[in-house]
Amino acid sequence: MSRSGGIPYHLKAMLYRKSRWGVHERETAAFLERWNPPEKELLLIGPSGGYSLPRAWLGHFDRVLAYEPDLLARKIFERRHGVKPLWLGRYFPFGKPGAFQPFGASAVLFSNLLGQIEIRNVRKFGNWLSEELKERNWASFHDALSGYGIDFDTEDAGRERALLPVLKKWVHVRNPGVGRIEVLAHDAPDLFANFTDLQYSYWQWTLTPEHTFLTEGVFPRKRPRAEEESC
Ligand SMILES: C[S@@+](CC[C@H](N)C(=O)[O-])C[C@H]1O[C@@H](n2cnc3c(N)ncnc32)[C@H](O)[C@@H]1O
Repeated sequence: MSRSGGIPYHLKAMLYRKSRWGVHERETAAFLERWNPPEKELLLIGPSGGYSLPRAWLGHFDRVLAYEPDLLARKIFERRHGVKPLWLGRYFPFGKPGAFQPFGASAVLFSNLLGQIEIRNVRKFGNWLSEELKERNWASFHDALSGYGIDFDTEDAGRERALLPVLKKWVHVRNPGVGRIEVLAHDAPDLFANFTDLQYSYWQWTLTPEHTFLTEGVFPRKRPRAEEESC
């Protein structure tokens, strides 16, 4: 179901996290601070070893629940963060009506997963997400574009949604002499096409020296529960 994770991902983290993932880690931390959910319970979906999740930020929560099918990733997460999430079922049941209902008090973070799962029908999946998340505080960071031998110049990125033609303009080919370069457009950004009033962020994740990702972060500007509380 997922194109990511497992031993190859942990090996890449071992090899390149310290030397190449710094920007991604800082940008992810800044994105999560902007989201800053007031809830005390967090549901994490697909955190892997939590490589890009800041320990201090996780400390805002009294309780962390998580879906992560990779058993080694769970152990790495616990060791890295000194936090033992309540590990729920392995695969989050995407597409199931009421899938978030058992997590009444939780904020939800899709942790760099939505760009890496197979989505058969983007429109249907997007409708399911918008229906299931409408009363909830949630955020997602996910792959928007990826490729080899390229960088993404996100200097002009604001807090608004950037559509594919704009994302493509941010592609910078490192060595224009190499000939054809392929850039993969992931489905995840389209899942949020029908959502209203989201705040967007964009940054580069250099997974390996050659393989780079344009990451998109999104969350709703308005918090349903916080509004109810203030009434
Ligand atoms: C790219 S990794 C996440 C990276 C992570 N955010 C980090 O900080 O390194 C995606 C993870 O999603 C997990 N995954 C795949 N399908 C899933 C599902 N249906 N529910 C929950 N996790 C899933 C994979 O096992 C993998 O560990």
